Amino acid sequence: MKIENRTFIVSGGASGLGLAAVNELLRSNAFVSILDKDITNVTLSPRLLALRTDITKNDEISIALERIVTWTQKTGAPLGGVIHCAGIGVPGLMNNVNASQVWDATVSVNLSGTFHLTQLAMKYLVDVPLSEDGERGVIIMVSSSVAYEGLVGQVAYAGSKGAIRSMTLPMAREMAKYAVRVVTIAPSSFTTPMTDVLRSNTKQALLDKAVVFPKRFGHPSEFAHTVKWVLECGYVNGESIKLTGGTRTPVKL
Ligand SMILES: NC(=O)c1ccc[n+]([C@@H]2O[C@H](COP(=O)([O-])OP(=O)(O)OC[C@H]3O[C@@H](n4cnc5c(N)ncnc54)[C@H](O)[C@@H]3O)[C@@H](O)[C@H]2O)c1
Repeated sequence: MKIENRTFIVSGGASGLGLAAVNELLRSNAFVSILDKDITNVTLSPRLLALRTDITKNDEISIALERIVTWTQKTGAPLGGVIHCAGIGVPGLMNNVNASQVWDATVSVNLSGTFHLTQLAMKYLVDVPLSEDGERGVIIMVSSSVAYEGLVGQVAYAGSKGAIRSMTLPMAREMAKYAVRVVTIAPSSFTTPMTDVLRSNTKQALLDKAVVFPKRFGHPSEFAHTVKWVLECGYVNGESIKLTGGTRTPVKL
């Protein structure tokens, strides 16, 4: 898909991996709408529409989508897809008193938020005219290496990210008749506000015991390049792609 002059929705686009994807898309002359529950630090740009939206609330998603579609009618840049970067990562043991709340909150943002935003955006995406390369759009979801190798304390996060990995193929199969591709990116540890809160000895243990090469966390720009490649390479579909520097998390850090 040609990125230029298409409109992409980026949930969680105000921070970290989502923000890097937003900047990459703007550099490629796309139009971008950020849906994020906190847009206070978003830098304004004529090609950017930032909408404060909680993706756990379907009514807020619906209102945002209506505004985005009206915007695309004004700009003439049709919807090109959704990049799902909103997420939370709250560790917690199953026998903690707040284990149920951690589970509900994590699944609600990471999994249900991804599902509902996709499902509600599809209503508009199926009406977009076919592009010259025969596509209507691309859905990019974000899983995690934790979907493959979770640690103690990551049951809720792994559950939410594993489900995203699992729903990639059936979603791609269903969307094929609308000429929409569905791809998931599964990053390992990347340098963002989400991992900034990790203790320094945890970060060092990940580098020493889990990451193969290069011995560092991923750069958000590397995630953004992958998003661009997935959008542009029309044969990538129905897969969950690991972006990990070879990371294999051991039983214990
Ligand atoms: N950073 C990593 O190491 C890493 C690794 C694997 C997967 N991921 C996943 O990548 C995605 C992005 O993570 P990040 O590192 O950029 O985190 P981040 O904390 O920098 O950004 C997450 C964004 O999501 C937004 N958000 C959270 N809850 C929301 C809600 N209910 N509605 C709307 N927006 C909401 C936040 O406001 C924030 O802007 C997440 O799904 C995360 O699980 C991150």
